[in-house]
Amino acid sequence: MIAFGLILIVLIVVVKIYNMVTKGRCTSKAKLNGKTVLITGANGGIGKETAIDLAARGARVILGCRNLKSAEDTKQEIISKTGNTNIVIYPIDFESLTSVRKFSKLIHEKENRLDVLINNAGAVGLGNKTTEDGLHILMQVNHFGPFLLTNLLLDLLKKSAPSRIVTVSSLGHIFSSLDPDNLNKPRSDELKYFNSKLCNILMSNELARKLEGTNVTSNSLHPGVVHTEIMKHLPWYKRLPVSFIYWFFFKNAKEGAETTIHCAVCEKVDGISGKYFQDCKEYWTLPITSNRELSVKVWNKSMELIIGGFWNLFKIIGGFYL
Ligand SMILES: NC(=O)c1ccc[n+]([C@@H]2O[C@H](COP(=O)([O-])OP(=O)(O)OC[C@H]3O[C@@H](n4cnc5c(N)ncnc54)[C@H](OP(=O)(O)O)[C@@H]3O)[C@@H](O)[C@H]2O)c1
Repeated sequence: MIAFGLILIVLIVVVKIYNMVTKGRCTSKAKLNGKTVLITGANGGIGKETAIDLAARGARVILGCRNLKSAEDTKQEIISKTGNTNIVIYPIDFESLTSVRKFSKLIHEKENRLDVLINNAGAVGLGNKTTEDGLHILMQVNHFGPFLLTNLLLDLLKKSAPSRIVTVSSLGHIFSSLDPDNLNKPRSDELKYFNSKLCNILMSNELARKLEGTNVTSNSLHPGVVHTEIMKHLPWYKRLPVSFIYWFFFKNAKEGAETTIHCAVCEKVDGISGKYFQDCKEYWTLPITSNRELSVKVWNKSMELIIGGFWNLFKIIGGFYL
């Protein structure tokens, strides 16, 4: 029993030391005056800490959020911490593609540039619901929605080049099992999340190829294991132990934002595209993430699913939606 206790203590100490030593920090002092950055899911967790940092660097920061009360609190917190009042909130709910299109329309009406797009919003454990768009809810929030948004904002990003697209994925993608012909029908709850996070990387890499020569870069990242609200939709008996482990062993939200900030601002990332980062450096991923055939298939299938039926296509061609 004593031996077991000692082994456990040693294990805890080793894991803690490993995590402290490997935590990356963005060392760039880059200023962002005159630049506009958009962060989705900016009212909490990693997104909020990213927004605080980028506001402190002088950027105009757009908070893309669905919970407007919480977004307003975040805006006031950013202003009081950084003194930067150039913070705006536009509503977006990835559970509705109409909301994503309206958000993009608003951005085009109100903003004349976009230097950094950060696809940060994401969720875990939303159950097996189908959205009004006929898509699986988690796949839509984590992949189809950000995929649509990114495509709708490409013109503004190109106009503002050099510009960057940063997509927050997850190391969890290594547990994925993706069938591109059945993107919308993952087999299990966990797979939905892992698959959506693999789609993030495939989208980011395919974008990098499509954007070659435009001076718009696209990179994805794993923020680390971070103690945030990400587990809030899980039942308490799953949420509590996981949250405790995240809190005790791993990163807080500020530390979890470092790699996103690095990819968004650091001079070392200038011109780098189609890469995957962790702890503020390029990191290994599964060979599947650079499988061109797969990423093209996922891209085309996602496009087909988000454009949906004839009526949507008609609205898009008719210019009702960008
Ligand atoms: N925490 C980790 O260990 C970890 C590890 C790997 C990857 N990640 C990724 O990191 C990103 C940020 O997560 P986090 O850990 O900071 O979690 P979080 O604290 O739960 O923040 C997630 C953000 O996304 C927003 N969001 C969720 N569903 C949305 C929807 N339908 N429409 C618009 N916004 C929505 C949330 O808004 P509401 O407040 O309205 O829900 C919140 O602002 C996610 O993409 C996640 O997959 C996290």
